[in-house]
Amino acid sequence: MTQTIGIIGSGLVGKAVAHLAIAAGYHVVISNSRGPETLADLVKGLGPRARAGTVDEAISAGDIVSIALPLAVFESLPAGKLAGKVVIDQTNYYPGIGDFRRADLDNGELTSSELVQKHLPGAKLVKGMHNLGWVHMQYNARPKGHPERTTLPLAGEDAAAKQAVTRFIETIGFDVVDTGSLADSWRIEPNTPIYFWPYIPALPDGLTEAEAKQVYQQAGTPISPAAAHKLVAETKRPSPIGGTLEGMPPIHIALFLELASANTVQR
Ligand SMILES: NC(=O)c1ccc[n+]([C@@H]2O[C@H](COP(=O)([O-])OP(=O)(O)OC[C@H]3O[C@@H](n4cnc5c(N)ncnc54)[C@H](OP(=O)(O)O)[C@@H]3O)[C@@H](O)[C@H]2O)c1
Repeated sequence: MTQTIGIIGSGLVGKAVAHLAIAAGYHVVISNSRGPETLADLVKGLGPRARAGTVDEAISAGDIVSIALPLAVFESLPAGKLAGKVVIDQTNYYPGIGDFRRADLDNGELTSSELVQKHLPGAKLVKGMHNLGWVHMQYNARPKGHPERTTLPLAGEDAAAKQAVTRFIETIGFDVVDTGSLADSWRIEPNTPIYFWPYIPALPDGLTEAEAKQVYQQAGTPISPAAAHKLVAETKRPSPIGGTLEGMPPIHIALFLELASANTVQR
């Protein structure tokens, strides 16, 4: 039977997941904070296998539920409704953005996915599809066996949930490596070697803005599963913990923000 992906969050990441899932033959129920009526154009564009719903509807329809909202609002996730569900945690900790800051994350007591799991004790949480920008999430997807297919890491406690999420990610266009438990998932958080950078193409000097934008949207050098394992194994715990925009070249931020405001992925 065709599986349904429930998506909480219809921003850059939620939309990218929806497009990938639909392209791979899944059904999608997508939700946001403002209600399904605000998603009419999006689901029309996604086609007949997509519908908009409330957060509760996305959860109850989802064989797998993607959390694609800001970590700052994790406490709004309905723990009771998510109990027993396979959940992909796509959130990341960016303490410099907004006023969301937590000592238990800053001091490494918890990984951000452990924090989310603590709030969702019955959910089978798998951290995944969080470590590349939305443009590259959508643009770098390739079918199995394609020479440009790249690899994404995941982490979690529940073996069956990890298998289900692995199957989903493999089907939509990426190889997958299991990097351990949620406690280990600091190895794949922001500011680690497998985060963001490996999925971006090199931008040669001297490009016009339009050329840079076009190159930026192309795939980075693909990472094999063995190379992904190596990157993760060699990771040192970042300090300070959490992502920053300052760590990126201005061209990346400018292009990211421009593409985000245009809200389209050009192919
Ligand atoms: N941007 C990236 O490239 C990227 C890549 C990987 C992972 N991530 C992570 O993925 C998450 C989402 O990022 P994004 O860039 O997609 O953010 P975004 O474009 O700002 O979208 C956030 C979405 O979350 C929804 N939302 C906010 N509060 C909600 C609530 N209480 N209940 C239901 N929905 C709620 C918003 O709904 P409304 O539209 O109704 O406000 C919006 O649709 C973040 O944790 C981010 O760190 C981002």
